[in-house]
Amino acid sequence: MTSSILVTGGTGTLGRLVTPLLRDAGHKVRVLSRHGREPQGGVEYVTADLLKGDGEGAGESGGIASAIDGTEIVLHLAGGPKGDDEGTRNLVRAASRVGVRHLVHISVIGADRMPIGYFRAKLGAERAVADSGLPWTTLRAAQFHDLILTMTRTMAKLPVLPAPGGLRMQPVDARDVAARLVELTLGEPAGRVADLTGPKLYGLSELTRGYLQARGKRRPTMPVRVPGKIGRAYRAGDNLTLDGADIGKRTWEDFLAERVSGSSR
Ligand SMILES: NC(=O)c1ccc[n+]([C@@H]2O[C@H](COP(=O)([O-])OP(=O)(O)OC[C@H]3O[C@@H](n4cnc5c(N)ncnc54)[C@H](OP(=O)(O)O)[C@@H]3O)[C@@H](O)[C@H]2O)c1
Repeated sequence: MTSSILVTGGTGTLGRLVTPLLRDAGHKVRVLSRHGREPQGGVEYVTADLLKGDGEGAGESGGIASAIDGTEIVLHLAGGPKGDDEGTRNLVRAASRVGVRHLVHISVIGADRMPIGYFRAKLGAERAVADSGLPWTTLRAAQFHDLILTMTRTMAKLPVLPAPGGLRMQPVDARDVAARLVELTLGEPAGRVADLTGPKLYGLSELTRGYLQARGKRRPTMPVRVPGKIGRAYRAGDNLTLDGADIGKRTWEDFLAERVSGSSR
């Protein structure tokens, strides 16, 4: 059966991977984001800002209402450093008006535990989805390799690498997240499903060392302690799911081998 699927954030790191998979599975895909583009590969692109109201009535915010019109399934990936709770509430209101049959949402592991604004906003977004009255599915994922690459590239510019004791991560490949989201989007609404992590647990400095090694470089390290409640939460592993998670296939080393080599990157 062919469904009409609206992918919010379909131009982002994750969205660019999910969208062709849904289209290749024979579905009609429309992407919503703030910066539009011409239709390509059978995908329609529409512009709307989720932080500018729910599209009820005329004006700039009308973009969400018209983007969602005629949609059966919404895969909600749009997000940024701030405001995911508010943006999701706006989307949910618009989705409720058209009565979508499945609202699928990506969140982050630790949304209910990490004392950081981004995580709190993701929790607010999860609640908006769960309380929407619409059939829903939410997947919490660990940090994507692409994000870890951005972080480690920045750290690797320092002459000495800070090594925050007890800060661990289980990065996951965005392609594994995309594949899982396609299954969930095309399946029955399932509520909160098992979290998705990468196959290995690393200390932050191990991740940076892996990046440097892939570039044939080395740096001295210096132990540091992340202060306050954020440091305590990381040391307690509140950003991790150590039991019962689904595990992605690709490791950080696999990702580095594809994306980083020699001294050119
Ligand atoms: N990256 C990670 O490690 C990670 C881990 C777990 C969960 N997640 C979640 O996964 C989702 C996708 O992450 P990503 O790394 O693929 O993000 P990304 O590359 O930054 O892409 C974000 C997407 O959302 C759109 N967007 C942002 N703000 C918007 C707004 N106000 N209205 C409409 N569209 C908006 C962006 O397009 P425009 O800029 O054109 O609007 C873009 O398409 C996010 O919800 C994120 O919280 C990410």
